[in-house]
Amino acid sequence: MIDIFDTERLAQSLGNAVRTPLRFRIISGDFESLPLSNAESAAYEGYTNPRRKQSWLRARCALKELMATIGERTDTSLVPFPDKRYSISHAGEIAVAVARLDDDPQGMGVDLEICRSLKAGSERFFLNTTEREWIHACNEAQRDDERIRLWTVKEAVYKSDCIAQDGVFKNYGMDSPCEHFGNVKLESEQGETRQFRYASTRLTNELWLTVSLLEG
Ligand SMILES: CC(C)(COP(=O)(O)OP(=O)(O)OC[C@H]1O[C@@H](n2cnc3c(N)ncnc32)[C@H](O)[C@@H]1OP(=O)(O)O)[C@@H](O)C(=O)NCCC(=O)NCCS
Repeated sequence: MIDIFDTERLAQSLGNAVRTPLRFRIISGDFESLPLSNAESAAYEGYTNPRRKQSWLRARCALKELMATIGERTDTSLVPFPDKRYSISHAGEIAVAVARLDDDPQGMGVDLEICRSLKAGSERFFLNTTEREWIHACNEAQRDDERIRLWTVKEAVYKSDCIAQDGVFKNYGMDSPCEHFGNVKLESEQGETRQFRYASTRLTNELWLTVSLLEG
């Protein structure tokens, strides 16, 4: 488990696992908003639910701060998700923004999920046969936790697929579902294949975080 504010250690640990330099910005709880562009303000005003609005803003501020450290313009409305370099995720009162720092990025994804029990059996919608066999071999307590971890892997991989996102998550198959980092291969129904590298970590006892990179 990594201290969520120790983003350098987080970047080092997950960056090593995906063999690519990464940078993170995490904002948790109350925060001071940065000035928004006109397009960002319009998007912000479009949300009516106050929690959703605040969560959206927290994630944009995390991304703005991250983009500023990389020396880019900080108007997040210009980042067309899915994006080759950047990704964001927000859950509860935490928002994470991540950038891959390599020269020719192909796709970046991150997913943050609060550990909770997904409905038993829900894995049939997002895990393939091999992944399901592995999860069913886990004991019950571990199975609940692994179900949510594997969900973050699938979401992060999907978000990093800048070529054509496949809504059928089973088509993104993990080489070794028991591992917290490794390879994922897309085998789409149209016969396309793509490779991804992912790495997962527990940010706190209650949060799983996974990053995924589309390989060139
Ligand atoms: C879009 C999606 C990836 C968002 O994931 P999430 O876990 O609900 O939310 P997160 O906080 O992790 O990420 C949300 C952010 O990702 C970004 N995002 C939105 N769509 C995206 C996409 N298609 N690709 C990459 N990033 C995306 C946005 O910035 C979004 O933030 P915002 O809602 O404040 O604008 C998800 O809802 C989705 O569509 N999943 C794929 C389809 C699916 O569920 N298939 C079912 C298989 S069983």
